[in-house]
Amino acid sequence: MRAAILQLLSGHSPALCSGFRKLTRISCRFRMEGPAASQESGETIIAEGKASVIYPSANQVFYNPVQEFNRDLTCTVLTEFVRMQLAEKGIDILVPGERENKKLVVNLSDNGDDGDKPSLENAAPSSRRTVTVGESCSEGLRVLEGLAASGLRSIRFAKEVPGLQSIIANDFSSSAVELIKRNIKYNHVENLVTASYSDARMLMYNRMGIQDRFDVIDLDPYGSPAMFLDAAVQSVCDGGLLCVTCTDMAVLAGNNGETCYGKYGAMSLKSKFCHEMALRILLHTLDLRSNCYQRYIVPLISISADFYIRVFVRVFTGQAKVKMSASKQALVYNCVGCGTFHLQRMGRAIAHGNNMKYSAGCGPPVGMNCEFCQQRHQVGGPVWAEALHNKEFVQRVLSASERNPKRFKTSERIEGGCSVWPSRSWIPRYITHWTI
Ligand SMILES: C[S@@+](CC[C@H](N)C(=O)[O-])C[C@H]1O[C@@H](n2cnc3c(N)ncnc32)[C@H](O)[C@@H]1O
Ligand SMILES: [Zn+2]
Repeated sequence: MRAAILQLLSGHSPALCSGFRKLTRISCRFRMEGPAASQESGETIIAEGKASVIYPSANQVFYNPVQEFNRDLTCTVLTEFVRMQLAEKGIDILVPGERENKKLVVNLSDNGDDGDKPSLENAAPSSRRTVTVGESCSEGLRVLEGLAASGLRSIRFAKEVPGLQSIIANDFSSSAVELIKRNIKYNHVENLVTASYSDARMLMYNRMGIQDRFDVIDLDPYGSPAMFLDAAVQSVCDGGLLCVTCTDMAVLAGNNGETCYGKYGAMSLKSKFCHEMALRILLHTLDLRSNCYQRYIVPLISISADFYIRVFVRVFTGQAKVKMSASKQALVYNCVGCGTFHLQRMGRAIAHGNNMKYSAGCGPPVGMNCEFCQQRHQVGGPVWAEALHNKEFVQRVLSASERNPKRFKTSERIEGGCSVWPSRSWIPRYITHWTI
């Protein structure tokens, strides 16, 4: 299968082919360590990244080694996000293992169209300072891991990502919170990580005030994150980062379109592009929920991997931009015979001089029957019909990974992904890659 796809790719650029090769090398080995002082009988210590975490062996469900890639990717995305945010405040970050960084100045304030904002990124060296991993930075980012289980992800943030002010590792299971507390101590990250026992939604709703919001919220549930999204889009700060996993792929990939509609407000379709559609449904629902509060999303990276999808999006506040959102969503007409599909935008936004004119979309884009095979169409969506990635941000992650190739066990896979992800689009030829 892999060989066949590489052959298919042979007409593409060498970077794409090598990226794909790296992407398909899945690493899910993990290290188990010997007994440790604070370990109780029957418990296991598992090392991942720079963290060593106590797990109750009887409940292995707490640790999912396949998600190591998800956590590695999140650490690198978070690092680059911090680097961007702190550069504006005249603060550099020191990432262990990183080779000399040729400065890449990219403005991602909002799709890069706010280009004349003054930036301290090029400030004279004397006015800059550097922060390192493990220290709490008073101007650093405030992170919430809403669904933390053992706390592994939060502890990895504390031990691997510089420039953070605080991390809350929250869970609604009392045994999980006990474990989180022990793991915080075991890893000596009390200065950065605090355990919290709360329903993630209540915690986020209590932090909606502008001063109380988080810079970064990570949601990594079993199954669907849908119930957490309304609170998340309100409790992340302006320009902040949401990192969201979905593992309910059957629902999102078209097995239960009606359930998908209930959770995400969009019909999923069984189709060759179901994984890409799943991502676009998640982005649609994130944008729509943000729109309720005069906010909108800008995706940085959106990936389908193993048995889940994961998106990293920024949330901005801006009533004028929210008016554009209808024109960023589309219904999907998918032929049940040959799989040909067409998009029907929900709205139109047309520039008239300095003003924009908004109206309903015009359609339908297809006739009663498919022009190629005469079969009928199923209607799916609405889905996010704009870019899945911010190419400049993906480039940032890629160059950081190239400067620090041994940083993660899955670094090769991250590099491979960064070479392939931006070339993916709503084009059937690329959809094979999505399913891998
Ligand atoms: C998949 S695990 C999280 C794994 C973790 N993020 C990691 O990377 O190791 C999901 C966790 O969500 C917790 N959970 C479920 N519903 C919750 C809620 N409403 N509020 C807070 N935590 C919740 C569960 O107790 C479980 O520990
Ligand atoms: Zn057809």
